[in-house]
Parts: sequence; structure tokens; C-alpha cells
Amino acid sequence: MKGIILSGGTATRLFPLTATTSKQLLPVYDRQMIFYPLNTLIKAGIKDILIIVAPEHSGQYLNLLGSIFEKYDIRIDFKVQKLPKGLAEAFVLGEEFIDKGNVAMILGDNIFEDDFSTDIKNFKSGGKIFAKKVPDPERYGVVKFDENNKAVEIVEKPENWISDYAIPGLYIFDNRVSDAAKNVTPSERGEKEITSLHNYYLEKGELEVSTFSGAWLDAGTFDTLLEAGNIVKEKEIYKKFDPIIDKAILEFNEELKAIAKKRLI
Ligand code: DAU
Repeated sequence: MKGIILSGGTATRLFPLTATTSKQLLPVYDRQMIFYPLNTLIKAGIKDILIIVAPEHSGQYLNLLGSIFEKYDIRIDFKVQKLPKGLAEAFVLGEEFIDKGNVAMILGDNIFEDDFSTDIKNFKSGGKIFAKKVPDPERYGVVKFDENNKAVEIVEKPENWISDYAIPGLYIFDNRVSDAAKNVTPSERGEKEITSLHNYYLEKGELEVSTFSGAWLDAGTFDTLLEAGNIVKEKEIYKKFDPIIDKAILEFNEELKAIAKKRLI
């Protein structure tokens, strides 16, 4: 299983914060937002991770994550997405990286309290996505279940209510996903929608949808960014990271301090 973190986009809703850095490098409590999705993948034992970034922020990602996990046998690759052409494009950009295996993709601004190791480790083929009841489903990709809890319809930001179940930004697919993504026709807003890929597997009867209980945050607005920091602190999510990440951050901090000291001498 390989991992992709989609961490590009322009994040206009967070201007002026995102005029100087990427949304996913903004702080959520004591660390950059990207460490949360990284943790979800690393906790599940994924050792090959591709981070897709916007060109203007590529240097910042390289500085922070370019070598931080080297001694822990975790490889981080980077790929630039020139324009935000949609979530599904990640699988086109990541085709060579995914190669013949399966892939778990997580959005760089999605923070999960739960551990998804079992779902990721047990995945065999097809597609697996998740669902969470929300008060504002019109903001998300939405899945409708029938009376037997079987997913029957998936719509991106439905104008008319179909269900209260949003689809969070964690997706597990087999490697057919790259070809499927190439064939996705962009929506009216000009994006290759991730829900087209969900529907690709749903129509084949190969999509599994599971609900989960822990907190899920999509930190894309001022309010949700603040809420994310508060929830991380209240629920002590920052204390439940994979030890590899905590160690790597600590070592990185020490390195920076040593460099700063040298500059002072
Ligand atoms: O958060 C979950 C939701 O994420 C899902 O329920 C929706 O189905 C899915 O389309 C997506 O909706 P958003 O409206 O939140 O997508 P947004 O445009 O905010 O992009 C999500 C993240 O992906 C964000 O961190 C920016 C990044 N991104 C987005 C696009 C369109 C890219 O890196 N490249 C892109 O081309």
C-alpha cells in the first residue's frame, strides 16, 4: 500500500493567510496541518508517500519534509500540480508512483482522530471510502444509504438533500484508479471530481463505505481551522501521534536550533 497526500490548491477562503504559505502548512495547535494526514498514513504502516503540492509552495514542503523521515525508512516523494484541476487528478499525477499496488489518498487539510490502520492494512481491491453524519452535507461529497445500509448514490455537493452522510477525504483504491481518473470528464467547475471515482467503483459493485466514530475536521475556513486547533488540544490528538513523527519533529527542531546558534556565533 502506498500513500498520497493531496496538498495543493489555492485556498482563497483563507486569504491573506495563504498568500504567504500553503494552507496545509498552517499551524494546527503545535504542528503544521500536514503532519495530521501524514500521521494517519504512517500509523497504518505506509512507508512510501507522495505529497502533491502547488508549485509556489514546493520549496517550503521540501524544507520541512524533504529529509525529516530519512532515518525511519519512510520515503517522501513530491510532485507538483500546476493547476488545481480536481482531486481525482492526484491519481493521474501519481500513476507511476502507484504502479501495481493499492493506494490510500488523504487530503492535506483533513484531520482524523481515529486510527484507520485496520481498514488500510486489510484492504484487498476495489474502493473503500468513509462516511460521517454532518449538519451541512451540501459542503461535501455525500453518500446515500438504502435500508440495508448499502451505499446507493454518491453526489458531489448536492444542491438538493439526499443524505446527511458526508464523505471525508480519505480514500483507498486499487491501481485501476489511475486509468479511471484519466477518463473522468471535468465537472461544470472544471475539476475532475473525486466522487466520479467513487461512482466508478460503486457502479461495479466494488465500493465499500464505512462509518466511523471519532472527530473529523476539514480545516478549510477560519472557523474550522480554529476549531481544528481547539479539538486537537481538547482531545489531546497531538499526544496520540505515531512516535516516529514526534521523534522526527524533535530532531528537526534540534537541528534548527543548532543552525540558529551557529549563526549567532
Ligand atoms: O473534505 C472532504 C471533501 O473534500 C469531500 O467530501 C469532497 O467530496 C471533495 O470534493 C472535497 O471537497 P472540498 O470542497 O473540500 O475540496 P477542496 O477544493 O477544498 O480541496 C480539498 C483539498 O485538496 C484541499 O486541501 C486542496 C486540495 N486540492 C484541491 C484541488 C481541487 C488540491 O491539492 N488540488 C486540487 O486540484
